[in-house]
Amino acid sequence: MAEQINPWSSTPKVNMNRLFEDFGIDPFEPQKERLGDLPAFMRRNIIQGHRGYDAISDAIVNKKPFHVLTGFMPSGHPHFGHLMVMKEVVWHIQQGGQGFISMADREAHAVRGLSWEKCDEYAREYMNCLYALGFKGEIYSQRRNNALKDLSFEAACKINFSNLSAIYGFGADTELAHAMSVSTQVADILYPQLTAGIAPTVVPVGIDQDPHIRLTRDVTNSLRMFYVEDRKTHISIRAKNASPEAITAVAKAFKGSKKYEGHIDLPAGFTVDEVETVIRRIEQEFGGFGFMLPSSTYHSFLMGLQGGKMSSSVPDSLVWFDDAEKDVKKKIMSAVTGGRQTLEEQKTLGGEPEKCSIFQLNKFHMMEDDKELKNMCEACKAGELMCGTCKKETLERVRAFLSEFKEKRDETAHMIEW
Ligand code: TRP
Repeated sequence: MAEQINPWSSTPKVNMNRLFEDFGIDPFEPQKERLGDLPAFMRRNIIQGHRGYDAISDAIVNKKPFHVLTGFMPSGHPHFGHLMVMKEVVWHIQQGGQGFISMADREAHAVRGLSWEKCDEYAREYMNCLYALGFKGEIYSQRRNNALKDLSFEAACKINFSNLSAIYGFGADTELAHAMSVSTQVADILYPQLTAGIAPTVVPVGIDQDPHIRLTRDVTNSLRMFYVEDRKTHISIRAKNASPEAITAVAKAFKGSKKYEGHIDLPAGFTVDEVETVIRRIEQEFGGFGFMLPSSTYHSFLMGLQGGKMSSSVPDSLVWFDDAEKDVKKKIMSAVTGGRQTLEEQKTLGGEPEKCSIFQLNKFHMMEDDKELKNMCEACKAGELMCGTCKKETLERVRAFLSEFKEKRDETAHMIEW
């Protein structure tokens, strides 16, 4: 039996390998060959898994339209733990994707009990970071977006309580608003296709958000009126929730097709892609959506400076973008490393960068150059680079990053409309 992942836990225990097998997440590695020029987070295997990314790499390589959307719960200040997803969104926009960000104020209010005023305050901070990193596109508030709320209701028509209990462990004492924040997130993921046209959509998230992705893919299928089956010798179209008029329209759209009770067979010669395109248009004409299945990427989490998960509930585990200089220094200098018990031991055995929060910080964000990172890693393993020196150098990089990021945020602050 597959384990459940609780997306609202501050310490989700996830074993990546088990998870991939249990839930059918695909490893990201094979995608890299198709893409050509890779950003650091792909070169360094920080993105580890995906669902349906073929549609996205295909769109990138062949310059076809696609969307990128993610969401942030504005329940606290943004910090280093949010930076990866932000960079992933911006990169996909640079590859031609149309960008969307959901400010999940409904979720923050329902699940974390935040006031709307507080949500707005934090939402502005997230927006500021995104614009400073080069985000272009639409950023919306869940609670103010009526089209989203209507879509969320349609999604809710396809979700029942046993789905919610199987996926999230919801029970008799789960608030209805919590369940509504789930259908709102499903709507978030489909929203780009609602407002900006049917196209593949990639949702970069941490692995803890996979339950939402799975649910959304199920809902997307349930919302379809037709199911296109490739029978190899011919294509067959099965009607699921289609009216007789819609079925007739489909039969008319394909010359030589044969209409049966509940399905339509096409003569040889059509491709699945062209059939899907026509079917989606017909679904829309008859009041449906015709959404494509959304895709996702899963990045591994940045290790907290105290060793465990980076989490806002453990203040010393992370650096906030607006931390005071002395706090940044304290947190970096007291971070858990892969160093040995004594200096002697470290010189002979070498350090263990794979266990080191400081190495991870460099790998994720503080060192753009692969060669430099490799040298650092090797010097550590060879016992040549000591933790004290390495921390001081990293602190300098963090300081430089923070002051530059602050400057960029000041420059782009005028873009915030909220
Ligand atoms: N639930 C997400 C979180 O806890 C935030 C979120 C809301 C989201 N809507 C989304 C993430 C849509 C991805 C896509 O951080």
